[in-house]
Amino acid sequence: MTQAQGTTGRLLADRYRLGEVLGKGGMGTVWRAVDETLGRTVAVKELRFPGNVDDDEKRRLITRTLREAKATARIRANGAVTVFDVVEEDRRPWIVMELVEGRSLSDAIRADGPLPPRRAAEVGLAVLDVLRAAHREGILHRDVKPSNVLIADDGRVVLTDFGIAQVEGDPSVTSTGMLVGAPSYISPERARGQKPGPPSDLWSLGALLYAVVEGRPPYDKGSAIATLTAVMTEPVDPPKVTGPLADAIHGLLIKDPVKRLDEPGVRELLKEAVNAPEAPDAEETRMMAIPADPQPTPTDARPLSFQQEKMLGALRALTNAATAKSDPEPKLKPVAVTSPFSPTRTSGFPPARAPLSDVVPRRTLVIVVTVVVLAVLGAIIGTAFAADRAVSGQRPGASHASGMPDDRVADLLQHVQTGQPTGHEHVS
Ligand SMILES: Nc1ncnc2c1ncn2[C@@H]1O[C@H](COP(=O)(O)OP(=O)(O)OP(=O)(O)O)[C@@H](O)[C@H]1O
Ligand SMILES: [Mg+2]
Repeated sequence: MTQAQGTTGRLLADRYRLGEVLGKGGMGTVWRAVDETLGRTVAVKELRFPGNVDDDEKRRLITRTLREAKATARIRANGAVTVFDVVEEDRRPWIVMELVEGRSLSDAIRADGPLPPRRAAEVGLAVLDVLRAAHREGILHRDVKPSNVLIADDGRVVLTDFGIAQVEGDPSVTSTGMLVGAPSYISPERARGQKPGPPSDLWSLGALLYAVVEGRPPYDKGSAIATLTAVMTEPVDPPKVTGPLADAIHGLLIKDPVKRLDEPGVRELLKEAVNAPEAPDAEETRMMAIPADPQPTPTDARPLSFQQEKMLGALRALTNAATAKSDPEPKLKPVAVTSPFSPTRTSGFPPARAPLSDVVPRRTLVIVVTVVVLAVLGAIIGTAFAADRAVSGQRPGASHASGMPDDRVADLLQHVQTGQPTGHEHVS
């Protein structure tokens, strides 16, 4: 129990101690509370009526809420929020229900973006289970939308807010004449004022799935009237997903409820989507082959002089020698990289051996090798000059403008590269 929930909050029905506000919606406020009789934490939804509702209408809404809460309690599904109690206070109904520690699906999408297709299909299946159980009891939800789906911290998916649900064939409850629900998720037949049935909830599930994978609902034109008009008349932009999940969304968003995908049909497609291999997450860390050194671009390709070519060859030889020494047995060296793109996952990566430059930064390697080569060259050239001087009896630099003929340098570099004695050495 937190401080906020201690003994200071309002006590409801002599039993439920209100704590912090969990959220506010169009119909009221949801509170965290403590059931002091049973000593457990619960959620309490306080229903507020719009200002233009008269007393008679309020009476009817309270009656309806109480009856529907009872009906909701009949739904047997793991994914249905459990309603514990409904109490009336301040001439308003307060619904006491199971507290779901987590966040709503709409908050999750807002914070983290669209769900991957497989998770979206799992959420769809969980909501479908609750709808099937409710429809079997003759109950329509009528407000299936992302803010009414709660994702518990342990991953459980819970459908809440049967508050505006209507029990079929209940003569004591008259229609309020209000269209309740979120326009972006209301089915075309409900928007037209026709009597809704189970297909209407399935349309809303299709709109929810669309929003979950796209990050926006299929219809959202700014105002309720414009959105409802689009729901009734306009085709939907195809979602970016493909495969069975896309088929499910298309089938559920068929405007004619008779032709709309039914519960067994959507169940099969969602199961297929759950079992489909997941495309790899672009952000996930995995092992992959390092691509070969990129070929120089035309701007990089400046012709090398003969001496530069030779110098480069020597550097390469040194690098190879260093690698061969430190790793005589070529073996797979895993290199963990985070890929910014989504390559297709293959069953086995080619056993690539990470070159030395993947372990030591390439620039560091070049500097080290250059220093080594220059030191070796310095030593060799020094030795060669000394030998030349000994043979010719001349001072260094007097025989050639550069101090040594090109073929001599080349030979010395070859010596570094191969470790073999040069012809000149042989001669001298
Ligand atoms: N049983 C619950 N356990 C935990 N948090 C809940 C529970 N029910 C609702 N909430 C939180 O309270 C927030 C407000 O819920 P509420 O149903 O009042 O508003 P809404 O769903 O956004 O809009 P609407 O009134 O149209 O349903 C939800 O988004 C959710 O974060
Ligand atoms: Mg709600």
